[in-house]
Amino acid sequence: MAGVCTPVAVVTAMADGLPHGTTVGSLTSLSLRPPMVTVALDRRSRLLPRIRRAGRFGVNLLGAGQDGVADIFASPAADRFDQVEWYADEGLPRLRDAPGWLVCRPRRFVAGGDHLLLLGLVDRVWGAEGAPPLVHGHRTFGTHSAFTRRKHLSITDQIAAFAR
Ligand SMILES: Cc1cc2nc3c(=O)[nH]c(=O)nc-3n(C[C@H](O)[C@H](O)[C@H](O)COP(=O)(O)O)c2cc1C
Repeated sequence: MAGVCTPVAVVTAMADGLPHGTTVGSLTSLSLRPPMVTVALDRRSRLLPRIRRAGRFGVNLLGAGQDGVADIFASPAADRFDQVEWYADEGLPRLRDAPGWLVCRPRRFVAGGDHLLLLGLVDRVWGAEGAPPLVHGHRTFGTHSAFTRRKHLSITDQIAAFAR
């Protein structure tokens, strides 16, 4: 499965006034009416009980070049949010430079082996349309190759253009 490319997102929740976030590659679009997404979370994930408690979660879609952000939120470190710029959006931790943002409510938790599949209703979306996504495959971060050819712009320039 390492060869199946995934998007990379940081799923967040606020619990007891403190932000928590976890890198996931399992984000998938599920339904259009109503708008729904799924995320598979390890049963041992520290994010899971926080989402259950808060009854809400945020999804930060990472862009090309944000490998470092993905690594921070996959690390065991407790101070993940000290290493990035973030703010509370509708009470959910939002990363300042992420090119996509979803505000969601958990609808169901479906057991799947050592993971739980979280089915979430999407209340609000924001996206920098056309921003090159961060993609993960064979344990390597990259982006969709078509974006590397577009208009001879470097990935760094493209991200800067969409951040404006
Ligand atoms: C590219 C990438 C994708 C990941 N995808 C998932 C995922 O879909 N579900 C999951 O539970 N963990 C995933 N992980 C691992 C978690 O980010 C990691 O175990 C993290 O430390 C869990 O933190 P938590 O216990 O605070 O939730 C992924 C890690 C990376 C680097």
